[in-house]
Amino acid sequence: MGVSRGGFSSRFGFIMAAAGSAVGLGNIWGFPTQTASNGGAAFVLVYLVLAFCLAYPAFMAELLIGRYGQANAVTSLQKMSHNLWQKRFAFMVGFGGIIAAALILSFYGILAGWMMSFAIDPVVRLFGFNDAAQWFVNQSLARNLIFTALFMLLTIFIIRRGVEDGIEKWSKRLMPMLIILLTVLIIYVMSLEGASEGLKAYLQPDLSRVFDADLLISALGQAFFSLSLGTSVMIIYGSYISKKENLVSLGAQVTLIDVSIAFLAGLLIIPAMYVAQAQGVAIFAEDGSLISGSNLVFTVLPSLFDGMGVMGLFVGFAFFVLMTIAALTSSISMLEGPVSYAVERHDMERTKATTYIGLGILVLSIIIVLNISFMLDLVAMISTQYGQPIIAMLCCVFVGWIWYRNSILAEIKQGNDDVENTLFWKIWPWYIKFVCPTAIAAVFIHSL
Ligand code: PHE
Repeated sequence: MGVSRGGFSSRFGFIMAAAGSAVGLGNIWGFPTQTASNGGAAFVLVYLVLAFCLAYPAFMAELLIGRYGQANAVTSLQKMSHNLWQKRFAFMVGFGGIIAAALILSFYGILAGWMMSFAIDPVVRLFGFNDAAQWFVNQSLARNLIFTALFMLLTIFIIRRGVEDGIEKWSKRLMPMLIILLTVLIIYVMSLEGASEGLKAYLQPDLSRVFDADLLISALGQAFFSLSLGTSVMIIYGSYISKKENLVSLGAQVTLIDVSIAFLAGLLIIPAMYVAQAQGVAIFAEDGSLISGSNLVFTVLPSLFDGMGVMGLFVGFAFFVLMTIAALTSSISMLEGPVSYAVERHDMERTKATTYIGLGILVLSIIIVLNISFMLDLVAMISTQYGQPIIAMLCCVFVGWIWYRNSILAEIKQGNDDVENTLFWKIWPWYIKFVCPTAIAAVFIHSL
């Protein structure tokens, strides 16, 4: 090893980067879509509870592992291990997370590519090339290949520059843009006819659905995906934070931003659906449920934008740029997991490691694009429904059962002298040992 490591230069830089990783297509597409297909406000309620009670504690575990280890996921976990078996287990968990990140990136890049091509469509139409514009919004092999590759090159471009000049700098630029765009779009949609009905569907829970098993599982999966858990990403971001920072409050702030942006995205998309309905677009499927999944983003919303005339071109452009930015600040974190491992464990040069690994993942994306009808869902399912919860759970097990309690407490105390009087100090070590692994395992087994 002996490679000098980068790090975040400021609190704000870390918050933007970690929130950038957390806030992505999962928030702006996944969350509203899941809300639409799981009975509206009941899902929102369950999601909020699970995000704070299960995902946040697990998120803290990953950040603490990284900051303690000051290294990539495998090395960090191995530093907490005391014997050969634990070190092997550490390798499995850490490397498993890195593989999960790479797999997620391989399908995420394809979806992000769609967002980019949908952002170009209104620009082309603004110049009057309506026929040419069709190419950008219709599924085709060529379009998918080109835009997946473009998106991946952007991701590689940022990660090649390292932590401060790449991840931090770009997250600090892109995240505020994302928040501004989102707010402007919400204000605009709220002023349209039909929005208030959508607001009701979004905010009035049907409490009878709150304990629905499917709803619970979807909400937990969504919360874990959204906080980027079980992918080595938050371990590596944790390792770039200075020991002087108060990790407990930084983690809470990132969680709060992540949850708020998901909530805001719902505030945009669910009312937008009802606005579309007021304009004559069908928003309910045949079985009476709200349209969700890719139809929502690629059919319902574009028809809404179409109904707005020239203004719709700008709104559509803003919306898909928003999606692309959100995806980019997440994809860079996914690439950083494997790259930091290659740099620190195999002494590779950062730029080389980034290019090779990025292109390797692009090859996987291309294979998925070529077999899109079955591979896209399959890879997404393996990495997010199986990989993420299992690895996140094993990280909790690691912290709760393998790491010495004194070392955990010492790490929590770094940069946070008064922590001994807080609820976090009293409850978290016990909570992460018993409650988190059991709850995650229960939901996971149930979902099988
Ligand atoms: N959290 C991101 C989102 O909500 C996705 C992500 C998953 C990012 C895993 C990094 C690792 O879209």
